[in-house]
Order: sequence, then C-alpha cells, then structure tokens
Amino acid sequence: MTTPGQPLDPTPASADPVATYRLVVVPGDGIGPEVIAGGRRVLETAGRLFGFAFEWQKVLIGGVAIDAYGVPMRDEDLAACAAADAVYFGAIGDPKYDDPTARVRPEQALLALRKGLGLYANLRPVTVQPVLRGSSPVRESLLEGVDMLIVRELTGGLYFGKPSEQRQGPSGREVVDTLFYTEGEIRRVVKLAFELARGRRKKLTSVDKANVLSSSRLWRTIVEEVKPEYPDVAVEHRLVDACAMTLIQRPAVFDVIVTENLFGDILSDEASVLAGSLGMLPSASICERRTAYGLHGLYEPIHGSAPDIAGKDVANPIATILSGAMMLRWSLGQAAAAEAIEAAVGAALAGGYRTPDLVAATGEQPGQRKVGTQAMADAVIAALEAGAAGSAAAAITSAGAKAAAR
Ligand code: IPM
Ligand code: MG
Repeated sequence: MTTPGQPLDPTPASADPVATYRLVVVPGDGIGPEVIAGGRRVLETAGRLFGFAFEWQKVLIGGVAIDAYGVPMRDEDLAACAAADAVYFGAIGDPKYDDPTARVRPEQALLALRKGLGLYANLRPVTVQPVLRGSSPVRESLLEGVDMLIVRELTGGLYFGKPSEQRQGPSGREVVDTLFYTEGEIRRVVKLAFELARGRRKKLTSVDKANVLSSSRLWRTIVEEVKPEYPDVAVEHRLVDACAMTLIQRPAVFDVIVTENLFGDILSDEASVLAGSLGMLPSASICERRTAYGLHGLYEPIHGSAPDIAGKDVANPIATILSGAMMLRWSLGQAAAAEAIEAAVGAALAGGYRTPDLVAATGEQPGQRKVGTQAMADAVIAALEAGAAGSAAAAITSAGAKAAAR
C-alpha cells in the first residue's frame, strides 16, 4: 500500500529482463503433438510462476516431414535444433513407413538428430510413483525403493556402425550390422555415469555381454580403467541377459546403470514396466556442448508415437511433462522449477487422476478419475499452481513467524 504523497516505486532501470529460452519443439508423429501440447502448457505455467519465458520454434521431423518435404529431416531443421537452447521432442514413427524395403523411414531422422547434435548420453530415470505401485504387473513389495538411472550410450554401437546393409552373397541374401565403438566413445559415457552415480547412491552397474562380444570386453576394460578415479563409487559388471532378469526380480538393487546403445534401448523399455506404464518415463539426451544456461540437449518421452491411439486424447502426457522438467534442470538451469513440476505430477497422481494406460492394470479404483491427455496436463498445471501458492503462503507464514520472533 502506498501512503498518501509517497511516489510509487519506480521499476529499477537495472531490473534483469526475464530470461527467455529459445526452444525448438518437434511434435512429430502419432501421439507426439498431443503429449507435446500438454507438456508445453506445463512449461509455460512453470515459466510464469518462476519468472522465465519461452520462444518456441516448431519444426517438422519424422513421418510428417516425409509427407511435407520428402525427407525425414531437412538440414536447416537440424541446424535450428543445434542453434536452440534445447529441443523438446514428442515422438516419431508411422506404420505407413514400416515397409522393410522403404528407403526413407521417420526413425532415420531421430538417429541423424542424435548423431548430428552429438547427443552421446541418454539419461532414463526409472522411479515408481508410490500411488502407481498397483499399476505395475510386478509385485508391489518388489517396487519399494526402486530408483534407478539408466545411462544409455546414444551415438554409437549397432545403431550407427558401418557396414549396415543387406546384400547379395554367393549363397543368396546376406545381411550385416556392425557394433563399433572407439575407446573415447566408451570412456566419455562411462565417466558421465560415474559422475552421476557419485551424486546419487554411489553404485554403478555396467551392463555388457563380455562373455561373447569383443566390444563388451573393451567396454568392461574401460570401466575398470576409469574406476580408480571414483573410489567412492561401488562398481559391478552384469551380463545383459542376467541383468534383464534381475531388473524384474530385484529392481531396487540398481542405482546407475551404464550400457551400450541397443542394450540400453531394450533394458529401458523393460524397466518402464516397473513404473506402471511406458507413458511415465522421460529422458534427456545430452551432449558435451554447453549453452548459456546448461548442457545442450534433447528431451523426449521414451515411448514411441503409438499410432493406434493417436488423435484420441487418451495418451499419457506425463513422460513428456517430466522430460520438460529434465530440460529445465539440464539445459536451462531452472532446477527449482523442475522439482516443482515433478512434485506436481506426484500430486496429480495422488489426487486420483489417471490416463487409461494407468487404469488398465488395476481397473478404475474408488477415488480415481480417468482422464484424457489434456485433462491430465490440466491436473498437473493445477497442482503446480497450488504448489506455488502453497510455498508462497509458507514463505509469508515463515516471514511472519520471523517478524513475530524479533
Ligand atoms: C527409443 C526408441 C528409438 C530407439 C527408435 C524410435 C529409433 O525406441 O528412443 O528408445 O531405438 O532409440
Ligand atoms: Mg526404445
């Protein structure tokens, strides 16, 4: 309140302008545009509450780009992704390009984007929301304490090794894919995984197939070489087949898992079963390059484009919303806003909101409300706003308490 005669406070000339992050958004195919729409609204709300803003540049990549331009990704769109502060990505893939003889496929764009941006590490955190333990087919008692981070190498291995082709051999058709890694590629992702383990429960599981593959034997050797630099981190090696079994039998034993590209792809889908739905798990793909605010990166749900449910407003937007939180933390230097979004997701679920994928396993329970994609995003937004109001109220109360104590 202004006392009569007292001038209104002028806005200080030196006030920091609101940070505006320049994002490229790639809605993509299938359910991509719907989950991205929900995720964007959550991010805009977080910006309003925490004092930052976004400038969005929409880019067509994937099946939609093949339809529009004849190629899954244009060079200028890759350049736009590289120039942005971060990339917010939905999903790509369309059954009309599933023909195994097709020359262009939407997925080629995602691989080119990962390679082109140098996104060597894909971080896939797997946690189980307490209220969703019943949504997983895995027994509830096994889910207690599950909190792991899968670090998947993303720009090497079978996905990129050459040759990779079908050809005519002396006895008919033959085919080859190549699992290739340089020691530098292995070392940088392994070191990142050690660093991340150091900031968590200090346990690192390196997953390989060293009893069969040469590439895995070098992988294992390099983990052993790096290990002395991190004496505070306990390291174990597991073979990928046995690891796949332990992931379901005793998932709580894992902290950080580091593994090559294809093993990480497979294990992370398996791990999503623990969380109750593939629709729950976010990911961050990061590179070595820094921007003004953090590491450059691309943020996407681990699920695909789910064409069977596209356009129906039933897809779960939570993986995309949580990917947005990871973007705030890793690329934009807004850790508090990231935490607020994560808490808001927990609150929306605790409030009973469920998309159909989360209802399926248990059937709708009393106190639960089955909602669509945008209504779930709305529930997260409401929880985010209520959380901010709650912390503002708490701040006022504690300020009041301090004043009273003086
Ligand atoms: C993933 C996906 C992709 C992959 C596909 C869509 C190419 O499964 O991000 O896990 O295999 O990496
Ligand atoms: Mg996958």
